[in-house]
Amino acid sequence: MADRESIPALLRVLKGERLDPPPIWIMRQAGRYLPEYRELRTRAKNFLDFCYSPALATEAVMQPLRRFPLDAAILFSDILVIPDALGRAVSFVEGEGPRLKPLVDEETWRFDDPERALQRLSPVYEAVERIKGAIPKDIALIGFCGGPWTVATYMLQGKGGEKDRSRRAVFERPEDVEALLDVLVEMSAQHLAKQVQAGADCVQIFESWSEGLSPLMFQQVIIGPTRKLVQRLRVLGVTVPIIGFPRGAGAQLEAYANETGVNALGVDTQTPADFAFKVAPDGMALQGNLDPQAIVAGGEALERAARDVLIAFKSAPHIFNLGHGITPEATPENLAHLVRVVKGQ
Ligand code: CP3
Repeated sequence: MADRESIPALLRVLKGERLDPPPIWIMRQAGRYLPEYRELRTRAKNFLDFCYSPALATEAVMQPLRRFPLDAAILFSDILVIPDALGRAVSFVEGEGPRLKPLVDEETWRFDDPERALQRLSPVYEAVERIKGAIPKDIALIGFCGGPWTVATYMLQGKGGEKDRSRRAVFERPEDVEALLDVLVEMSAQHLAKQVQAGADCVQIFESWSEGLSPLMFQQVIIGPTRKLVQRLRVLGVTVPIIGFPRGAGAQLEAYANETGVNALGVDTQTPADFAFKVAPDGMALQGNLDPQAIVAGGEALERAARDVLIAFKSAPHIFNLGHGITPEATPENLAHLVRVVKGQ
């Protein structure tokens, strides 16, 4: 048997072991709250070019690891590389977020051939290989993709925020939406499988727009497609743990935890830890769920909030994280403080 100490703590917890202190990583740990990231970012003319540069992506991953003793690295990329590769060009408008041409304005929905689309993403897999070679063995490397519904909402209405037009499309054009979700399931499965082949130790599905759906629609656009994605990954020979993060799922977390086949559950800030513990299958690892604003605030309030999270998840195999991504207003000093509190230093 492999030496237990050589298995990254994150992977041990994903397999159902409880560790004290828990492993910690931070969603969006590479990003604009770091001055060195903002400097690096100026070297590419737009954000997607940055993501498609294996050298820049690798450097962005290394930056937080140099500052903080984190237990995982996450690939530097974006969930919107998939629509971009499928020929639905994505642009990032300063201060406004991602923009695409809305599918709902078009009569026929056409996408580029998925095989060609995957070839366009080859710099992402090259980045995974480089990152794997650059990080210490005890740090787990996380690959990721967006959940099918979250990526579909960006494609349907051309931006995030209110999902009214996306939900209306599910009522008005159910077959078209189903076909779109099927394309995204297949692309996402291939995309994750390639990341794992290139060295990812586990993967996370970011279903960031899980809120506001009726139970029936939640089944239709989240549970069904996610279950297909997980099954497809297993058929493709992917055996690594899969973390599902259905942000905003609320009471439907129970269905997500039990019916999709994911191995671990990302818990958002609004969800009580004991609710997640109660509804998840026995021994399932839970990840979360500090409010990102606590890292902006810092000081004693941050310490208290972090300790509350540690206590709330004390019965579960727990991975310390935020309930959503760290914001640009957070400071590196406050994040360093948080990591010390969680590690009991
Ligand atoms: O460190 C990491 O977590 C890895 C990289 C990562 C990014 N985006 C980098 C990024 C990951 C995992 C994502 C996921 C992502 N992207 C999600 C799911 C998670 C979530 O936050 O809900 C979503 C919805 C997106 C789409 C997206 N990309 C948004 C909404 C934005 C912000 C736009 C803005 O201007 O605020 C992006 C851009 C983006 N992705 C940035 C980073 C570091 C900032 C862009 C920049 O540096 O110019």
